[in-house]
Amino acid sequence: MNIIEEIKKLKQEKNAVILAHCYQPVEIDEVADFVGDSFYLSRKAAETSADIIVFAGVHFMAQSAKLLNPDKKVLLPNLNSGCFMADMINVDQVREFKNQYPNTPVVCYINSSAEVKAECDICCTSSNALSVVKSIIVSEGVNQVLFLPDTYLGKWVEHKLDNVKVVTYNGFCPTHLRIRPEDIEEARKKYPDAKILTHPECHWEVCKISDFVGSTKEIMEYAVNSKNKQFVIATEKGVADRLSRDNIIYGWGKEFILLNDNLVCQNMKWNSLEDIYNSLKNEEHEITVEPEIARKACVCVQRMLDVMKSGVNV
Ligand code: 13P
Ligand code: SF4
Repeated sequence: MNIIEEIKKLKQEKNAVILAHCYQPVEIDEVADFVGDSFYLSRKAAETSADIIVFAGVHFMAQSAKLLNPDKKVLLPNLNSGCFMADMINVDQVREFKNQYPNTPVVCYINSSAEVKAECDICCTSSNALSVVKSIIVSEGVNQVLFLPDTYLGKWVEHKLDNVKVVTYNGFCPTHLRIRPEDIEEARKKYPDAKILTHPECHWEVCKISDFVGSTKEIMEYAVNSKNKQFVIATEKGVADRLSRDNIIYGWGKEFILLNDNLVCQNMKWNSLEDIYNSLKNEEHEITVEPEIARKACVCVQRMLDVMKSGVNV
């Protein structure tokens, strides 16, 4: 059996769409309709007319797709696909955090559960966190927001905006926190001509000495559009894998170096082509959300999409 052809056949038969995050094993792109970062994929999920969405990503991503598509079937091929950061905060902890700062808007990174999103005012992803925080500062007439669960993305936003206090929860991504400032300094010495591209989930001390900080897709776009020939990738391995693959396909003559070999998110590597095949064939591992939670959490995610549609940009 040619598994790729079988998946494509099933997709057609069942009117399904496959969304894949850039940290997924690279061979999944062979069957994916859209590959990108969290924001790009949530937009694609919001726009799709498919009956079934297979989300090759982690649980919070599939769950967010379900929030935007209550009447569609959303499948997660392998249920082990969690996110350490999303698991760092639960409803009680959000409530406690909010109680410490009454009347302060709460911005929630998409890397969180639906229950947590239901307690927050607006969602964001790493590609639009700046725009989202700026929009809420203006619309609510405040100069302080709460940001959860990622303390590092929140602090990065604070550093980029003038006169705004971002009070952060103490969550973090273990994969991105493996990167230390000395790793960047070493890479700088070893590859003096390279541009160093970093994800904002990294420590501020890492971000501030990098050449570019952006979401997964922004990093890829920067590398594709840059005249530079060499790049050090300071984020998850899947990004470097895809850039290296495209470099060969399109003959860019560029070089992409993963900062170090341990930049692998194990959670993102569970889904396989076989899991996707089984998931589509058996329509298994359906993601569901309790309706009242889903309604509130959807407002949080939809508000982000509306802000981005209205063109607020920094
Ligand atoms: P992106 O917003 O870049 O897709 O990041 C999601 C993520 O989980 C990074 O660790
Ligand atoms: Fe979660 Fe970090 Fe993996 Fe992203 S890289 S899915 S934040 S554990």
